[in-house]
Amino acid sequence: MENSRIYEHKGKKFRILIPEEKIQQTVAELAARITNDYRDKHPIFLIILKGSIFFAADLLRKIDFNTEIEVISAKSYGQAMSSNGNVNLALPKLNIEGKDVLIIEDIVDTGYTIQSLIRALNEYRPNSIETVAFLSKTEERKVELDVKYIGIEIPSEFAIGYGLDFAEFGRNLPAIYSNFE
Ligand code: PRP
Repeated sequence: MENSRIYEHKGKKFRILIPEEKIQQTVAELAARITNDYRDKHPIFLIILKGSIFFAADLLRKIDFNTEIEVISAKSYGQAMSSNGNVNLALPKLNIEGKDVLIIEDIVDTGYTIQSLIRALNEYRPNSIETVAFLSKTEERKVELDVKYIGIEIPSEFAIGYGLDFAEFGRNLPAIYSNFE
């Protein structure tokens, strides 16, 4: 599966949009920027499940300072292929008061998930909150958001792989694929 150029699931076909080498190069560039900006701040990274697990694992191993991580569950799409604005958040007991927080997301699409999350996290009185998104579909944005770190801007196509799913499948593809029929 990993090496094929076309991925098929439930009658839909996907082809490579971003190859694995480009993904890893982009992750390294993001890690270098974050290391430079946050070296003395010791931020806490919040990994948003499930989509961010692959990006977070790659990014965090390239971050060159001592840091804490936490995971949060957020769900917006359900089984559909586009975001609907309803975001379910499961926040653990968080100790982020006075801390600099970096949210790790695989993709920011409409922005509803990040907007809801930032609102909820502000209740814990952190010093700052910024977002690291591997992908962004800025064309799809429904809310105004400032995403500090964006890896790659992608067009408004349904994308899977590197954590992103279609009905829960395709997350473990090492490249990012987009739907073409
Ligand atoms: C995806 C993605 C983001 C969100 C982005 O998560 O991981 O969290 O959607 O979309 P938005 O900007 O339109 O809110 P999803 O809800 O599909 O959950 P998953 O990570 O478990 O796949």
